[in-house]
Amino acid sequence: MHWQIERVRCRLLLLGILVALVACCFAQLAFGQITQREEVIALRAVCRQLKDPRKGLRSWRKGDPCTSNWTGVFCYFNSNDGYLHVQQLRFLGRNLSGTLAPELGRLKHVTILDFRFNNMGGSIPREIGNMTSLNLLLLGGNQISGPLPDELGYLPNITLFQLDLNNISGPLPKSFANLPKAMHFHMNNNSISGQIPPELHKLPQLIHLLLDNNNLSGYLPPELSRMPKLRILQVDNNNFEGTEIPESYTNMSNLLKLSLRNCKLQGAVPDFSTIPKLLYLDLSHNKLNGTIPTNRLYSGITTIDLSNNQLGGTIPSNFSGLPLLQNLSLENNFLSGDVPTDIWQNTIFASSAKLVLNFRNNALTDLAGSLNPPSNVTIMLEGNPICRRANELNIANSCGNQIDTGESPPSSSNNTCPSAYLCPVSGGYELVPDTPVGCNCSAPVGVGFLLTSPSISDFPPYFDMFRHYITSNLRLDLYQLQINTPFIWEKGHRLRLFLKFHPHYTENQFNETALQDLINKIAMYSIHGNDTFDDRIPTSSSMNKGVLAGIVLGSIACGGIIIMAVAFICYTVGCKKQQDQDRKKQTVPKTPMKIDGIKGFSFEELEKAASNFEIASQIGQGGYGKVYKGTLADGTVVAIKRAQQGSLQGQKEFFTEIELLSRLHHRNLVSLIGYCDEQSEQMLVYEFMANGSLRDLLSDGAARHGSPLNFAARLRVALGSAKGILYLHTEADPPIIHRDIKASNILLDSKFNAKVSDFGISRLFPEADADASVSAHIFTYVKGTPGYVDPEYFQTHQLTEKSDVYSLGIVFLELLTGMETISHGKHIVQEVLAACRADLMFSIIDQSIGPYPDDCIKKLLGLALKCCEEEGEDRPMMLEVVRELENITATLPQSDIITPESDASSSATSGSVLSSIYGRDFSTSSNLQGSDLVSGVIPTIRPR
Ligand SMILES: *[C@@H]1O[C@H](CO)[C@@H](O)[C@H](O)[C@H]1NC(C)=O
Ligand SMILES: *[C@@H]1O[C@H](CO)[C@@H](O)[C@H](O)[C@H]1NC(C)=O
Ligand SMILES: *[C@@H]1O[C@H](CO)[C@@H](O)[C@H](O)[C@H]1NC(C)=O
Ligand SMILES: *[C@@H]1O[C@H](CO)[C@@H](O)[C@H](O)[C@H]1NC(C)=O
Ligand SMILES: *[C@@H]1O[C@H](CO)[C@@H](O)[C@H](O)[C@H]1NC(C)=O
Repeated sequence: MHWQIERVRCRLLLLGILVALVACCFAQLAFGQITQREEVIALRAVCRQLKDPRKGLRSWRKGDPCTSNWTGVFCYFNSNDGYLHVQQLRFLGRNLSGTLAPELGRLKHVTILDFRFNNMGGSIPREIGNMTSLNLLLLGGNQISGPLPDELGYLPNITLFQLDLNNISGPLPKSFANLPKAMHFHMNNNSISGQIPPELHKLPQLIHLLLDNNNLSGYLPPELSRMPKLRILQVDNNNFEGTEIPESYTNMSNLLKLSLRNCKLQGAVPDFSTIPKLLYLDLSHNKLNGTIPTNRLYSGITTIDLSNNQLGGTIPSNFSGLPLLQNLSLENNFLSGDVPTDIWQNTIFASSAKLVLNFRNNALTDLAGSLNPPSNVTIMLEGNPICRRANELNIANSCGNQIDTGESPPSSSNNTCPSAYLCPVSGGYELVPDTPVGCNCSAPVGVGFLLTSPSISDFPPYFDMFRHYITSNLRLDLYQLQINTPFIWEKGHRLRLFLKFHPHYTENQFNETALQDLINKIAMYSIHGNDTFDDRIPTSSSMNKGVLAGIVLGSIACGGIIIMAVAFICYTVGCKKQQDQDRKKQTVPKTPMKIDGIKGFSFEELEKAASNFEIASQIGQGGYGKVYKGTLADGTVVAIKRAQQGSLQGQKEFFTEIELLSRLHHRNLVSLIGYCDEQSEQMLVYEFMANGSLRDLLSDGAARHGSPLNFAARLRVALGSAKGILYLHTEADPPIIHRDIKASNILLDSKFNAKVSDFGISRLFPEADADASVSAHIFTYVKGTPGYVDPEYFQTHQLTEKSDVYSLGIVFLELLTGMETISHGKHIVQEVLAACRADLMFSIIDQSIGPYPDDCIKKLLGLALKCCEEEGEDRPMMLEVVRELENITATLPQSDIITPESDASSSATSGSVLSSIYGRDFSTSSNLQGSDLVSGVIPTIRPR
C-alpha cells in the first residue's frame, strides 16, 4: 500500500520534472536566450577547481548559468550573436578556496573578475591574459602565490589590478607598461621582488601605484615622474638600499601622496614644495641625511613624516602656515637649535581637528618663543636636551612621556535621535536622524570599507566631507549614510570603516531594486570623484551595454582617500530571505541530543499532550512561535513552545536555548522540562505557569478594576524577577544577559511566584552568524522589544548587564502604574517623569494596586527610575536592585506579605536571599549590608 503510494508520487514527480524541462526548453527557444556553450563549459571547469565550504555556489549544479541565476554570474544578451554571455564573475567574501582555473581564459566577455577576500590558492593562470574584455581583475585578500604572468600585460581594457594581500612573488613584468587604460595598480602586501620596471612610466592613465610591503629592490626609477596622471605613489617597506629619492619626483605635478617609509633610502630630502597638491609625505625610517628643505610645502598638506632618519640642522620655519596640518613627525633625527612655537598659529581647526608635533629624540636646546599650545595641539619634546630645563621653561607636559594616541575621540555627529524614539526591533531597524521627517526608523545595509591609502592622519575632521562624497557618488541623501564608530586604523596606514546605508526615508527597508543598485555601485567601483572633489577622474567609463558603468576608484582631492568596498555585510532583507530558504533546505539532524535532566519527546507525545495543537490549547504567541498548554501522559501540565515553520529563529537558536536552559536552575527562572526535534518540528516543553504573564495580569486588572496583585504581591514579583536575572548575570556560567526582559516574559505560577522566561535571544555577545550566505562581516542589530530597549545599547550596540537593568526598570514602572510601555506615542518613562515633575506621582499609580504605604511606593518608583537612567553607569547593578527591593519589602507591614511555603526567600532577609543566590550566607558580611548601595535612588529629573 505504502509502496504503491510511493510509486505514484514518484511518477508524479518525474512527470513534474519532465513538464518543467519542456517548459524550460520552450522558454529558451521562445526567447532564444541561452549562454554560449563554450562559456558554460569554461564555467563548469572553473567550478570544479573551487572549494565551496559554505555551499554558496550550489546553484551552479543545474541549469544554464545565465538563465538559472547561478550565484555570482552576471550576463548580458548580445543581439549580434544571439547568445547570453557571462560578463561578470563576482565572488566577494564567499569563503571559497581552491585555484583559479585556466579555463577562465575562454570567458572572452567577462569584464569583472572578482574573487576578493576568499581563500584562493595557487597562482594566477597565464590564460587570464586571454580574457580580452577584462576591466577589473580583483583578487585581493587571498593566498595566491606564484609570479605575475606577463600575459596580464596584454589585456587591452584593464583599468584596475587589485592583487593586494596575497603571496604573489617574482618580478613586476615589464609588459605591464603596455596597458593603455590601466589606472590602478594595487599590488601591495605581496612578495613581489626585483626592480620596479622604469618602463611603467609609459602608463598614460595610471593614477595609483601601490607597491608597499613587497620585496622590491634596486632603485626607484626616476622615470616614474613622467607618468602624467600619477596621484599616489606608495612604496613603503621595500629595500632600495644605497640609492636616493630621485630628484625628478619633485616634478610630479599631480601627486597627492608620496609614501616611501622604510625603504633604506639615503641622501638628501628633495624639495617637494614644487609639487602643487601634495597632501601626504612620508619619508620616515630611511637613512636620509642633510638638512630639511626650507621652502613651504603645499598649504593643504595634512601629514609630514620625516622621522627616524639622520637629518641635521634646525627645524625650518616653513612648517607654520599649513592650516590643515595634522601630523608633523621629526622624531629620532639629529635636529638641533630651537623648538618652533608658532607652527599652529595659522592652523584651522575643524571642530574635531588636532595637531600632533613629534620632535622627540633630537638635539633641540631652546625655545623660539614661549610655548603655549592650545589643547588640541600635542607637542612632544621628550629626549631633547631642552627637557633638562623642563620646569624652568614650563614645558614639563611636552617633555613628559606623552603617548601619541594617534586617534581622536570619534566625532559622533550631534544629530542623534533622542532616546525616547524607538523602532520596532525585529527586522533590524535603526533610528536615522535628520531625515526630512526628523528621526525615522529603517533597516540599514552595512558595508565595510577599507581606505587603502588615505592622505590624512586623523579621520574625524573629514567625517562630513566623506559622507558628502560617498552619498553624492551613490546619489543618496546625506542622512542615508551613517559612519559607525570607532573606525580602525590598520597597519600600513589604512583606514577601515563600517558604513551603514539607510533606504530613502519613505521606505523602511531597501526594496530589492534599490538594494541591488546600491550593491552594484559599490561592488563595481562606481564610486568616483565628481567635479567638486576631483576634476581629474573621468566621471564614467563606457562599457558593454547592460553593465553599470563605472570602474574608477575615487580620491578626494582634499583627502586623497581611496575607496574600496571590501565586503558586504549581511543586509537585512535579502539575507533573511536567503537564510530562510537555506533553512528550509536543511534537514534536521536525526541524532537526538542528550542533555542531562532534559527529556526528549516524540512529536506524537506532544501532539497528544496539546490535543493536536488545536486553537483551544493555545495560550500564547511569541517571536518563536505559538505556545500551547498540554498535559503529559503522567498528568504533568506543561507549556509547549512550538516553533512555527519558517520561524525567524532557527535551529541554532533552538539548540542554544536548550543548551542554555538545561544549565540554569533557579526558582525565579522558568524551567525547561524537555524538547522535541522531529519531523521538522522544534518544540520546547516548560513547566506550566498557571497565572500567565505579568503583562496579561496587569491588563486584566485594568479591565476588571481589580487585580489579583496587590502592592505586596507586586513587590514580590519585582524581587523575584530581579533575583532571576541576578542569577543569570552572576551565577550562570558564562554569565548571561537576558536581552529581552519585558512584562510578557515574566510569568507567574499558581502562587504568583515570578519566573523569568524566554532565553531565546539570550546570548553572551553578539556573534557573527556563520551561516549567512552573503557576507564576510555581519552586523548584529539591536535585539529586544520596543519600549524595553536600553537607549545606550540602542546607540552603541554595546550590550551590558545594565541593559537588563533598564528593561527591568520598565517592568517595575508597569508594575506600579499598570500602563503599557508605549501608549499614545509616549514612552512610560516620559509619562512617569512628567507626572513626578508635576508633583502628581500618586496619580499615575495603578488604581487596582490596593492600599499601600506611600513611602514604599516612592522608594520603588525611585528605584525603577534609577534603573531607567539614560546612561548605563548611572543605573544600579542588579545586585543593588535586589538589595533595595529587599529593603523596601522589609519596611512593609508583615500582614501584607504573602508567604507561600514554597518560597524560602519570602522572609526577605538579605542574608537568605543572597544565600539562595550564592549558596552561602552573606548576612554577616558587612560590606554587603545596608541599603547604602542604592543610595539616592530618587533620580534627577532630566528633560528629554
Ligand atoms: C532568476 O531570477 C529572476 C529575477 O530575480 C527570476 O525572475 C527568475 O525566475 C529566476 N530564474 C530561476 C530559474 O530561478
Ligand atoms: C589565447 O588565445 C589565443 C587565441 O584565441 C590562443 O592562440 C592562445 O593559445 C591562448 N593563450 C592561452 C595562454 O590560453
Ligand atoms: C574595450 O573597451 C572598449 C570600450 O571601452 C570596447 O569598445 C572594446 O570592444 C573593448 N575591447 C575588448 C577587447 O573587449
Ligand atoms: C649623507 O650620506 C652620504 C652617504 O651615506 C654621504 O656621502 C654624504 O656626505 C652625507 N651628507 C651629509 C650632508 O652628511
Ligand atoms: C582647537 O583649538 C581651537 C583654538 O585654538 C578651538 O577653537 C577649538 O575648539 C579646539 N578644538 C578642540 C577639539 O579642542
